[in-house]
Amino acid sequence: PYEHYRMLRDTDPVQEHPMGFWFVSRHAEVSKVVRDARMSVKSHNLTPGPIRDQINELIADTPLKRVSMVVTDPPDHTRLRSLVGRVFTPRAIAAMEPMITGLVDASLDRIADAGSVDLAEAFAYPLPFTVITTMLGMPDADPKRLLELTEALVIALEPPGIDAAFDIKTKIAVEEAEAELSGMMQEIIAWKRKHPADDLLTALTQAEQHGDLLTDEELVAQVMLLYLAGHHTTVNLIGNGVIALLRNPDQLALLRSNPDLIGNAVEEFLRYESPLQETSRITLAPYPLGDREIPPGALVVTCIGSANRDERVFGPDADKLRIDREQARQHVSFSLGAHHCLGSALGRLEARVAIGRLVARFPRLALAGPVRWNGRINVRGAKEIPVSV
Ligand code: HEM
Repeated sequence: PYEHYRMLRDTDPVQEHPMGFWFVSRHAEVSKVVRDARMSVKSHNLTPGPIRDQINELIADTPLKRVSMVVTDPPDHTRLRSLVGRVFTPRAIAAMEPMITGLVDASLDRIADAGSVDLAEAFAYPLPFTVITTMLGMPDADPKRLLELTEALVIALEPPGIDAAFDIKTKIAVEEAEAELSGMMQEIIAWKRKHPADDLLTALTQAEQHGDLLTDEELVAQVMLLYLAGHHTTVNLIGNGVIALLRNPDQLALLRSNPDLIGNAVEEFLRYESPLQETSRITLAPYPLGDREIPPGALVVTCIGSANRDERVFGPDADKLRIDREQARQHVSFSLGAHHCLGSALGRLEARVAIGRLVARFPRLALAGPVRWNGRINVRGAKEIPVSV
């Protein structure tokens, strides 16, 4: 997609897309729009028409889509985010490091025994799932079923107008998956109320009992969001990062000789192949942007993947992977402003541990066949990463 993004940045940076939404591709405008408090994230603020119909059709009427923090504006957003933020703290995240290291090393042992594997399946997929279910304290979560449900839901993140996303079969799958997942979450929360433990779910249910104004429905929605938002994104950060390194042997060698670069390398992976390529906002009033004026009630798709490659910020070699790039942190892969990713510290930690230890462990790590991408526009990642170690 990156050639197309570049063409848009150069010729039509605030594009009125033929499908009826606006597509913003430069770093300056993307950053302005996502952090602008005058923008809404609630789909009912869209002007009635095909875009609104498509979004409403695809989005089943479940707690996640009604009241999770990512679809609410202030004051609800402020209240929900601060309640969850109170338990999902930097300290709680840092405390996960030994557990993450143990999981990564156990995976690496299995890979060493196998010799050659699909790194997506054997390494990138299981880690974020186990981390978030452990951190939440989800008892006996059925990993296979949860993964299938998550897979079905990721399609709802694709942009409007993509045929596959509006395939009737897919739509039913999305609705069923959401209903089943919210049912599962309700059961888990009910169980947790009777069996409190030292975990995030217990802390959240107790926050609610302490009269902090979190309804049952809101609680279910935030738990679903934590579970969903941190899964495919982190899987793809790890997978895309490993692919980028294996395709750029000079950068892999640089990381091997300077393991302390891993923190900056993860920022560069986020910039270079953002796990989420887009997010969006809705205008509530006429909105001047670049040399255009966007009308109220419009869907503004902000292209993170394009902003991250903008030569105006990252210079003429923006399309190159450089793990020691000084401005790598200027990427907008976690978005900015009030909705800025709540799990960014956890995602960064998992990627640092996973990629850092993988590279250190296998000096002869190499691609053993073609990478198979998932074909998605927004949730960018690989389905299959064949490697030999
Ligand atoms: C929001 C990306 C990992 C939880 C977001 C948004 C982005 C994003 C772009 C903002 C949406 C917007 O402004 O419109 C990523 C990436 C990750 C990642 C690239 C890769 C590692 C995680 C993890 C968790 C998480 C591990 C938690 C377990 C959330 C939550 C929100 C969010 C709760 C909603 C925040 C709000 O609306 O206030 N994420 N995320 N994310 N993310 Fe992440």
